[in-house]
Amino acid sequence: MKAGIIGIGRYLPPKIVTNFDLEKILDTSDEWIVSMTGIKERRIADESIETSYMSFEAAKEAIQDAGLTPEDIDLILVSTVTPDCAFPSVACMVQEQLGATRAAAMDVSAACSGFIYGIVTANLFIESGAYKNVLVIGADKLSKLINWNDRNTAVLFGDGAGAVVLSRVDNSRGVLSYELGADGTGGKALYIDESIIMNGREVFKFAVRQMGESSLNVVEKAGLNKEDVDFLIPHQANIRIMEASRERLSLPVEKMSMTVDKFGNTSAASIPLSLYEEVKNGKIKEDDVIVMVGFGGGLTWGAVALKWGH
Ligand code: ACO
Repeated sequence: MKAGIIGIGRYLPPKIVTNFDLEKILDTSDEWIVSMTGIKERRIADESIETSYMSFEAAKEAIQDAGLTPEDIDLILVSTVTPDCAFPSVACMVQEQLGATRAAAMDVSAACSGFIYGIVTANLFIESGAYKNVLVIGADKLSKLINWNDRNTAVLFGDGAGAVVLSRVDNSRGVLSYELGADGTGGKALYIDESIIMNGREVFKFAVRQMGESSLNVVEKAGLNKEDVDFLIPHQANIRIMEASRERLSLPVEKMSMTVDKFGNTSAASIPLSLYEEVKNGKIKEDDVIVMVGFGGGLTWGAVALKWGH
């Protein structure tokens, strides 16, 4: 039994904060931010917009896109490191708001790799025959953990949510292979102590190496060659890190998703937000082989190779 994506949705807070806005509150410049990260602007959620709200809005669209109703959902996984509160989980809040009365619900914590961890978990529940329809949401409101006086981190992040419904699909499509990993010894490279603390150089070196390796590993595990990959959806943290993984797969520029310029690093939401763009603008088509790859705090990483369609 194969699991594939049959519906997708997203939510972006309306407020846009540009690099020029940040120039007014920080010792930084649009030129530095664009050349070092590729980010031009990001969405920032107001106080009233919590992770559960963004998750719910994205989930509603994904379920509708899948042609299902909330009662069809068997399991809700919300990948987030910014839950509204310690408990109940965001997944339980979303379950209530959707009226997904049959669904089990839990959050997944793997920082920016969270969406990949969620997809792999959903895939295994479906492949085993335990569940039919699993809702996976990647949502984060990192703006509430940003120290707005720290130019090293304040310029990097944005808020948002992306959601997909995974279900049983035709045997030739769906998840082809995956890889998950963690290295707790790197925990201090990126962590929360009231606000986000990051050793940018450390994270950069790790990300460049791991994104490339994981992308190649899932292609190999799927029994494919680099030439078989139609589209790359990397975690949108920094254009220079994304470029390194694209080069490892020898893909042309137009075959890699790039939304970091508009949304910044949205943590667990970044991969589904990018996937949404490329599916809706027709760049990802039926039977395309896509590789989604991410890294994040933990340190954690993960990749999935998937044949699009159902
Ligand atoms: N504006 C202007 N100057 C700045 C800024 C800023 N926003 N931030 C740092 N600088 C300055 C520094 O002070 C330093 O100045 P100095 O040379 O006078 O001391 C100079 O720019 C270089 O700073 P570095 O931090 O050494 O720059 P680096 O080349 O490492 O680039 C960056 C910084 C872009 C953050 C890079 O390290 C990076 O992208 N790292 C990965 C970060 C990342 O992806 N984090 C997300 C992790 S995903 C997750 O799970 C949340």
